[in-house]
Amino acid sequence: MSRPAPRLVEVGPRDGLQSLPGVVPLEAKVAFVDALSLSGLSEIEAGAFVSPKAVPQMADSEKVFAQITRKPGVIYSALVPNEKGLERALAAKIGKAAVFTAASEPFNQTHIHATIAESIERVRPVVAKVKTVGLPLRAYISTAFWCPFDGQIAPKKVVEVARRLQGLGINELSIGDTIGKASPDEVRRLLDELLKSVPVEQIFLHFHDTYGKAVANALAAWSEFGVYGFDASTGGVGGCPYAPGASGNVAMEDLVSAFESAGGRTGVDAAKLKAAAALLVPHAGPRLGKISA
Ligand code: HMG
Ligand code: MG
Repeated sequence: MSRPAPRLVEVGPRDGLQSLPGVVPLEAKVAFVDALSLSGLSEIEAGAFVSPKAVPQMADSEKVFAQITRKPGVIYSALVPNEKGLERALAAKIGKAAVFTAASEPFNQTHIHATIAESIERVRPVVAKVKTVGLPLRAYISTAFWCPFDGQIAPKKVVEVARRLQGLGINELSIGDTIGKASPDEVRRLLDELLKSVPVEQIFLHFHDTYGKAVANALAAWSEFGVYGFDASTGGVGGCPYAPGASGNVAMEDLVSAFESAGGRTGVDAAKLKAAAALLVPHAGPRLGKISA
């Protein structure tokens, strides 16, 4: 099994900060992203152009994008839910757009008040416009293993949603363990099916770490299936405001350490991640997963 170098996407400034009880001040967000830019990461999801009523923590994403210091070679991406969000995101000069849906109907209804089919129709014009302007694109599939309302999700459901997204011309899929409950065997079962339909280079795994299994999951996917795209959040901060009980994303520093120990060169400087995480201490407090000083 070939094991390419891990490709790590930092989602802390979006997935991490969106879930904190308070709104992190703009200058702290900008300092966090700027510190992450120095760590060797090549992609940072820096904000979300979603409804500010739904997620007030992301309401200042325009200002974040305007004030960060963009390091050449780093992609600064953002979550984009609909055409209104895309207009805002393009004005803010994002480097990649990320749309989202889920593999569970009740989660999608609770989260974005739409069926899976409706949510895919909602992003169709977003995808078309993103392609016209020539930006890269990813789609998230949430609750790909477990749903807080519907229990375990069958791999065939995830494959079905992935195929529909591929039908729109999306060629990067981030497969979300939204509530952080998946086990390595469940990851194996999903990848056994998914890799029949989706090329390995198009797959990212997005593990939350509620039960401490995320690193084991990532190593199983990488070493046994050659999947090399992973999302993580520096400091392990965050959760999902729409998934009761979900804790933060797997900590980027844990993934970097695990891959480096297993011979995967990440190109990321762990000391610089630690410095970035330390900037969150006053804002995230006990919600900071891994680095507390
Ligand atoms: P909607 O259909 O307009 O319905 O948006 P709504 O009732 O939710 O809209 C409320 C208000 O927001 C309306 O304004 C809209 O115009 C406005 P009003 O008429 O009341 O004055 N609005 C917007 N304003 C600015 N920018 C926008 C925008 N869209 C609507 N883009 C929608 C439905 C889903 C878009 C909205 O509810 C929304 O943005 N929700 C937030 C979704 C979100 O951010 N979820 C968390 C991120 S996803 C996640 O964490 C999972 C992931 O990490 C993977 C994983 O772990 O599984 C990616
Ligand atoms: Mg997430």
